[in-house]
Amino acid sequence: MCGIVGYIGNQQAAPILLNALKKLEYRGYDSAGLATITDSHVCIKKDAGTLVEVNTKHQLNELPGIAGIGHVRWATHGAVTASNAHPHLDCNQEIAIVHNGIIENHQELRSRLSARHRFTSDTDTEVIAHLIEEYASTGSSLEEAVRLTSRELKGSYAIAAVSAKEPGKMVAARKDSPLVAGIANGGNFVASDCLSFLEQTDRIIYVEDGECVILTGDKVSLFDNDGHEIKRTPSKASWKVDEATKQGYDFFMMKEILEQPQAIRHALMQDRTLMMEMALEILRARQVLFTACGTSRHAALIGRYVFSRLSSKFCDVVMASELGYFSDSVDKNTLVIAVSQSGETADVMNGVKKAKENGATIFSLVNVVGSSLARMSDRVAYLNCGPEIGVAATKSFTAQLTILYLLAYTMINRFDQGVGQLNAVSDLIADNLQHNGLEVPKIANRMSRKNDFYYIARGINFATAGEGALKLKEIAYVHAEGMPAGELKHGTLALITEGTPVVAICPGDYTFDETLSNIAETKARGARVIGVSDRQEPAFDEWIEIPEVDEIFYPLVSIIPLQLFAYHSAVARNLDPDKPRNLAKSVTVK
Ligand code: F6R
Repeated sequence: MCGIVGYIGNQQAAPILLNALKKLEYRGYDSAGLATITDSHVCIKKDAGTLVEVNTKHQLNELPGIAGIGHVRWATHGAVTASNAHPHLDCNQEIAIVHNGIIENHQELRSRLSARHRFTSDTDTEVIAHLIEEYASTGSSLEEAVRLTSRELKGSYAIAAVSAKEPGKMVAARKDSPLVAGIANGGNFVASDCLSFLEQTDRIIYVEDGECVILTGDKVSLFDNDGHEIKRTPSKASWKVDEATKQGYDFFMMKEILEQPQAIRHALMQDRTLMMEMALEILRARQVLFTACGTSRHAALIGRYVFSRLSSKFCDVVMASELGYFSDSVDKNTLVIAVSQSGETADVMNGVKKAKENGATIFSLVNVVGSSLARMSDRVAYLNCGPEIGVAATKSFTAQLTILYLLAYTMINRFDQGVGQLNAVSDLIADNLQHNGLEVPKIANRMSRKNDFYYIARGINFATAGEGALKLKEIAYVHAEGMPAGELKHGTLALITEGTPVVAICPGDYTFDETLSNIAETKARGARVIGVSDRQEPAFDEWIEIPEVDEIFYPLVSIIPLQLFAYHSAVARNLDPDKPRNLAKSVTVK
């Protein structure tokens, strides 16, 4: 959802910013731009297109100056055009800003400002540049102008601003959008994500809501809303530079799919006491609600079955964007378990904030250490799966499941048994990946002309159907629906005709016989069935083999070949699985 970065130091800023933006492209890739300050004026280049395309056309890396800001865009307000790309400037082209978030009152501000200011874009962001200009024109310093501007903004923002009149500094501020400062030798950074500057430094300072940060070449200072300085000790980033590289793979998504056996083992490295305390509170809570979006919600749906089947604890799952509408039923007796890879998803943050206001206790399962969700939770279990850069979530899903299994085992006082069983499953997944790494691409190629897929499963496997379908939709742009197999005959069966692909997750567990009956119903209408199972059945036209495991673990072993299937379906259609159209990782807008 847009990535911002700023650098000020003793080296040329543009190549450093460009390199940083490459690491932020997972947040948006429809436009890109840079602005630097040199000889007391702003140099700017920006355009629609990916970072590589914009750089090839405009040589962003050649912009002069030792201070600058950069942006990769995921459009919210205004089409994907050069004028809507960031940075945005004030009327005098002396102030440049980049922004991640949404300014909800931009119309009102634009109407107020438009008599005196010339707008050149359709974005919500541009009002920020003109507001800063207004305050600066009455004598405010850049930091004062940013602070006064922030007070007028409704919505969410992480902003970085530079001014030709104050070339030795940069000012950044945040509310409800991530922002982190980095302290390096010979220069300082501010960015949406520390991955962008990890090559230069792992010394970071998280900027909190309502705070403003002033950077010079040798100092990073934090201030609250009233301009009082805050002292905060820098922390050490938990990720390493090489974890965020493709390491020889064509796409991050493939690297991350293959990392899953290791992701399970790393997710198992949980503090036993923390797990026991969390498990106890879950068991004691009068009401437990999972909340999450997208893939993380599918993990929560599986967690719900696991908690019920293993620990007899009934929980509900509420889509994060809908949680606020259940406020009447959320109170101090409610335990909310928020599941999120990024820990920055606006829908999750919004739902959790409302639940917290109502007195609920918040647990979270998060990958990004120090993320907003982690910081506002009463207890956090980290996924430990390393940075996930591919827009489609893969290894974070298996890591989330692993912790949910572990919590369920801990609830029945069998933590060690849980660790042992999950380690064994991770070995089986490693073997199965080798087998399916060869077989699944062949099936994906054979199905590459099909446009509508139906994924069906029952019980604990039902959310795997939803997740498999989501993967295919988002990266291969193929219409797919995931549903409980029993639900098919209540309407959707009307869409099954000769050759319609039906992906049936049908492991040899308590769902096997009934799912097989539903498969027969689709075959009777001409469906072409891709069976995901540890048993080869005559009803399967294609068989994706998975290992035999204890019944609760089938979601873990079934989803991985379905991720592979989506990946190879995208590649077979000449699509870039790391950069699906219209999407971005870390959805920081509501
Ligand atoms: C799909 C995908 C999204 C995310 C969703 C929540 O592959 O990645 O559906 O799962 O946007 O993101 P997090 O987990 O960061 O809250």
